[in-house]
Amino acid sequence: MKGSLEGKEIILGVSGSIAAYKAVEILRELTGRGAAVTVVMTEGAQRFVAPLTFETLSRRPVLTDLFTLDYDKHIGHVATGERANLLVVAPATANTIAKFAHGLADDFLSNLYLSSPCPVLLAPAMDREMYAHSAVQENLTHLKARGVHVLEPEYGELASGLIGRGRLPELSTILQKIDDLLRHQGDLTGETVLVTAGPTQELLDPVRYISNRSTGKMGFALAQAAQDRGAHVTLVSGPTSLPTPPGIMRTDVTTAEEMYQAVLDRLDTTTILIMAAAVADYRPSSSASQKMKKQETLTVEFVRNPDILAEAGRHKGSRILVGFAAETEDLLENAREKLRKKHLDLIVANDIRVGFGGETTRVTILDRHGGVQELPERSKREVAHQILDRVVALRSGERA
Ligand code: CTP
Repeated sequence: MKGSLEGKEIILGVSGSIAAYKAVEILRELTGRGAAVTVVMTEGAQRFVAPLTFETLSRRPVLTDLFTLDYDKHIGHVATGERANLLVVAPATANTIAKFAHGLADDFLSNLYLSSPCPVLLAPAMDREMYAHSAVQENLTHLKARGVHVLEPEYGELASGLIGRGRLPELSTILQKIDDLLRHQGDLTGETVLVTAGPTQELLDPVRYISNRSTGKMGFALAQAAQDRGAHVTLVSGPTSLPTPPGIMRTDVTTAEEMYQAVLDRLDTTTILIMAAAVADYRPSSSASQKMKKQETLTVEFVRNPDILAEAGRHKGSRILVGFAAETEDLLENAREKLRKKHLDLIVANDIRVGFGGETTRVTILDRHGGVQELPERSKREVAHQILDRVVALRSGERA
């Protein structure tokens, strides 16, 4: 990771929580990776940690006082904000979150938030009851809707002695998010990405259905990664227990026909469609309106579901289409055939012996020019970024 943030300008905002001391470690890691970091502290933060600690480690003045006009030391919030690649606030207290949400500007950090055009990442830390309070949650919802990236605090023992959600996320989680936000620096800005995820359920009667073992993790990872890279993302999800990634519009559907309708309704405004959902190919020809009673044998007739991706392929335009192929045999040949038949730009061939339901997956990415990229087994987050790297490459090839 050494040097991975070379050339990046980061503002590290520290607000007044007991977790402020953990920001020292964040600063060390960021500078260790080559980033140039300017630390901004609120008054509260300075009661927990002395600015000198941050000043020594960042080798830069720590910005605290809005009204200092010493430009050698304090270069002013506008200049600082304009040249930053990222503003990270860790820990972000309820007070700082409220100021950001409502546009208050009474200290250096809140002024900086308003004058920084760069992406913003918040790592909240506070007591359990405070974090759960609807005032804080509503403020976070506002900020996420505005495109601010927010990490979920972790569950565990809090400074108050209570157990609950409110701990500053682990150092590794914060660093990974910073890396994701900076590495690709908005290369999907301006794109509207529609991702489908999860299984569909095809109803036999009001309580029974036919489905598959997809969990939705790959689709959700793609939605999150696309949003981290600056895209406007909509997620159309079949039934899953996964939480919605922050800042992403989610529409829940149950059946393949509902997913078909949800995708077609949004196709006109979509510039990149990624069909990661495991759509059932068939549904029962009729669904009983009452719960079916036991019988000696049961015969169910199935009819074909509409093929969503094939339909999108028929109206492709300049849209990028990405499909998945889960196979147990002849992986590449079958995937290539699907790529061609459905007019796709990329197909992600999935070795379903690795990946179904797990945190990692092993895939091969095939593109419309005949390119084949075999990836080793990796986390779904990393694979999502590799797929998006291919999408970005295809887009820039088109523009060249
Ligand atoms: N897909 C779709 N609509 C369907 C079925 C699949 O959009 N009704 C999409 C999936 O989301 C995936 C790709 O198409 O991106 C998978 O292609 P498909 O031909 O359905 O793969 P299999 O189900 O494996 O098909 P086959 O039985 O032909 O191997």
